[in-house]
Amino acid sequence: MLTIKDIESEYKKAILESQKLYAGRRVKDTAGAVRYTKGKIVEEITKDIIKIAWSKISSDETRLRMDKKKVIIKTNDEVYKLSQDIHIYIDGIFRISVECKSYTEVAMYKRILIDAALLKRAVPTITSFFIVQLENFLGGDYGRKVKTKGSESVITLDRLFPEMEMNVITLLDGNRDINRPLHKSEYFKPLRDERLNYAIEQFRKAMLINQNVKKRIIGEPLIEYKKGLMTYPDSKILKRERKVIDRVQKEKIRKGTKDLTVIKSKVNEIDVSDIVDKIICGNSEDILRKFPDNFVDIIVTSPPYNFGLEYENDKNKDAIYWQDYFDKLNRIWKECYRVLKPAGRICVNVQPLFSDYMPTHHVISRQLLELGLLWKGEILWEKHNYNCKYTAWGSWQSPSMPYLKYTWEFVEVFCKESHKKVGDSSKIDITGDEFKKWVYAKWDIAPEGNMRKYNHPAMFPEELVVRLLKLFSYQDDIVLDPFSGVGTTTLVAYKSKRRYIGIDISKEYCKTAEERLKEEQKQMRLF
Ligand SMILES: C[S@@+](CC[C@H](N)C(=O)[O-])C[C@H]1O[C@@H](n2cnc3c(N)ncnc32)[C@H](O)[C@@H]1O
Repeated sequence: MLTIKDIESEYKKAILESQKLYAGRRVKDTAGAVRYTKGKIVEEITKDIIKIAWSKISSDETRLRMDKKKVIIKTNDEVYKLSQDIHIYIDGIFRISVECKSYTEVAMYKRILIDAALLKRAVPTITSFFIVQLENFLGGDYGRKVKTKGSESVITLDRLFPEMEMNVITLLDGNRDINRPLHKSEYFKPLRDERLNYAIEQFRKAMLINQNVKKRIIGEPLIEYKKGLMTYPDSKILKRERKVIDRVQKEKIRKGTKDLTVIKSKVNEIDVSDIVDKIICGNSEDILRKFPDNFVDIIVTSPPYNFGLEYENDKNKDAIYWQDYFDKLNRIWKECYRVLKPAGRICVNVQPLFSDYMPTHHVISRQLLELGLLWKGEILWEKHNYNCKYTAWGSWQSPSMPYLKYTWEFVEVFCKESHKKVGDSSKIDITGDEFKKWVYAKWDIAPEGNMRKYNHPAMFPEELVVRLLKLFSYQDDIVLDPFSGVGTTTLVAYKSKRRYIGIDISKEYCKTAEERLKEEQKQMRLF
């Protein structure tokens, strides 16, 4: 079995070899090559550290795998490929990502943080990020139990990426000294047990958090927490396992809606061919009233937010008394409820007007609940709207009236009568990978970039609709958007082989929505 003594002698051998390789050469002539060689040495050492850490958790070596395969990160049109030095998989699931360096300076630390943040977006199963470096150059000490903080720049970067919680480990004592390169025999520094044990312990803890996460093979792998046995990172402090005793009994007392999974009402099939696959111009309140009951499978929409935006054909300039605004919306939700099939879903994208302290998403959710819809969930659409991060503090550095900022919007998801919507399995178009990623309800999607082109001030991006439709509906389903603007929902519905109805009060927007559909149809004919 591998021990830390093996690592220490492996390290010595590798450094001795590099001493021979670069003997007699000036430091500045070989700096890049030396740094690369040492980085490789760190990578090999780190793999052994990880193996030893894993042996403290499980004797089954086959559950642990390491590679550095590139991960594909998609933006709207472009593809960016990215990997770090060691990707750790436990039970086939990518859990920990590690960058190995001879030493890390601030610019490199920033680059690693950005890569890690991108990886985290693309692979939500990753729970920890590590940098393992031979020597330290970041201003703190990262190799002992009592860690000191890094330089001011490092602290600032950590604050700018609070979600990353980068684990930095330094394998050798002291700081890097450019004039004392350790591949010169006179400056050689040995690896010491204390630091190796510290590194092993850090990886053991990170992998321990994941080790109860089991793979369930039903088509694609899903993540399932072993019932009642999940140990939490802080369970030592709590000195107990968080286990709910008599869970089912307690659920019965609480009377949530989880068990509502069957459709009780009887609905007759009706011919709606004259309504579907149309963009209709008019006030939704009036148009919807003419529609029959129970025929729509899914509603995806975003109402005007009452923000004061410049919509076409809006004499009120999107700013009316809040109560009138909510009353109007409620009349439209009522019609939405009626036209929705039992088990149909409604997904409403809203952003509260924080500066008015108006929790629009809560008010609308309350309206939908009161109509009898069942709350299915809430998606945080993370837009990374960083502009708002640096302006309007409210009371600066004072608790008198701080102003909270949001880089995201909400999508409230409700369903009618039943949480379960049974459909033809040949009409499912979500892949296993998409399902795995999208059930994590925080979606990183860039805001729509074509608002100027389509002359609309508040479009949502196609990707948001793609995810909602694939996750909550089947192909051939009827999709309704009662505030369809320039037709993002109807376009995506068409592209993903669903039927659609879009309603908007503005003639100009309806015309653009139709043109977008025609353009897509033209493209389809070309292929
Ligand atoms: C937030 S925008 C929707 C944008 C759309 N999601 C898109 O991507 O193009 C809200 C839309 O509701 C429309 N609208 C406002 N009041 C309406 C009403 N009573 N009936 C129908 N549409 C209305 C506005 O013209 C505006 O285009």
